[in-house]
Amino acid sequence: MTKHRALVTGASGLLGRAIMKDFCASPDWDVLGLAFSRARDGLKKVDLSDKNAVTDVVNDFKPDVIIHSAAERRVDVIEKTPEAAKKVNLDATQFICEAAAGVKAWVLFISTDYVFDGKNPPYKVTDEPNPLNLYAKSKLEGEKITLRVNPDNGVLRVPILYGEIEELSESAVTVLFAKVKDTSCKAPMDAKLLRFPTLVDDLGFVIRKLSERRLEDPAITGIFHWASDEVMTKYDMAMNMAKAFGMSTDHIVPETSSASAANRPENSQLDCSRIEELGICKRTKFSDCIVNILKPFL
Ligand SMILES: NC(=O)c1ccc[n+]([C@@H]2O[C@H](COP(=O)([O-])OP(=O)(O)OC[C@H]3O[C@@H](n4cnc5c(N)ncnc54)[C@H](OP(=O)(O)O)[C@@H]3O)[C@@H](O)[C@H]2O)c1
Repeated sequence: MTKHRALVTGASGLLGRAIMKDFCASPDWDVLGLAFSRARDGLKKVDLSDKNAVTDVVNDFKPDVIIHSAAERRVDVIEKTPEAAKKVNLDATQFICEAAAGVKAWVLFISTDYVFDGKNPPYKVTDEPNPLNLYAKSKLEGEKITLRVNPDNGVLRVPILYGEIEELSESAVTVLFAKVKDTSCKAPMDAKLLRFPTLVDDLGFVIRKLSERRLEDPAITGIFHWASDEVMTKYDMAMNMAKAFGMSTDHIVPETSSASAANRPENSQLDCSRIEELGICKRTKFSDCIVNILKPFL
């Protein structure tokens, strides 16, 4: 049987590593992962803001599917240097989609629940976005580019992610553990913004299944949502981590007015029924996996 070919951008990142793991474990796929500063372990170094480099790698590999996970996603960095977001989130997306069109590859652009303002959840794939910060605006623009270059492409919006990490700061979930384990200092944690922390391994599975369905059915196009169904504030996540390791929780303080919450949606819960109706589903409980993820950082 001929294998399908998947090109994964951002393959060295938090989500990209999980996508690579899932696709590489399947006998049905040949996979090429792209990275930039962390191009190691078989990943190919390509600067996605270099149009010629993008065109060359797409023409050489001739993928059936491109999972475009690479992004500048640090909200605070983008507020200070918006050009960084333009290069990776917009220009690179344009180059990838144009090159994909040339080899008839399907592009799945990974986007964010932050495209919504969080005032009227849960959000259906047909609901109108209203991004509150520059990061979210750039991701919404990336969605539009993806669907403008080829309306048959796909967009997958996902919420806050966590999973196997190289350092605690790699995920907005695991970064909380640095404060949780330092019981000598008060640890204020946001207790207002509602989040649906989603395990990247679950997403790797969902993305592979969605890609396989797309190759069977050309009607798999447009916008999709995927998220965990467990609602938690950062305070809940921190308490859950402390309890999982039998640590004191006395220093963890709920906070309802943090400055960093100002330009973030209060509750951008995603309605995931479009993917569920395809019979695709994988949701791991937070408390079932967080210990193994954090154990190396105790
Ligand atoms: N993390 C979250 O909580 C979250 C939430 C919602 C949506 N998302 C979306 O999910 C996707 C994956 O996020 P993530 O957390 O996995 O991101 P990440 O860990 O920050 O990884 C970013 C990836 O982009 C690559 N990259 C950046 N600039 C590049 C360039 N010029 N050329 C080539 N590659 C470049 C990086 O490569 P190197 O490291 O090798 O340089 C890295 O692999 C993004 O589209 C993000 O917007 C993430």
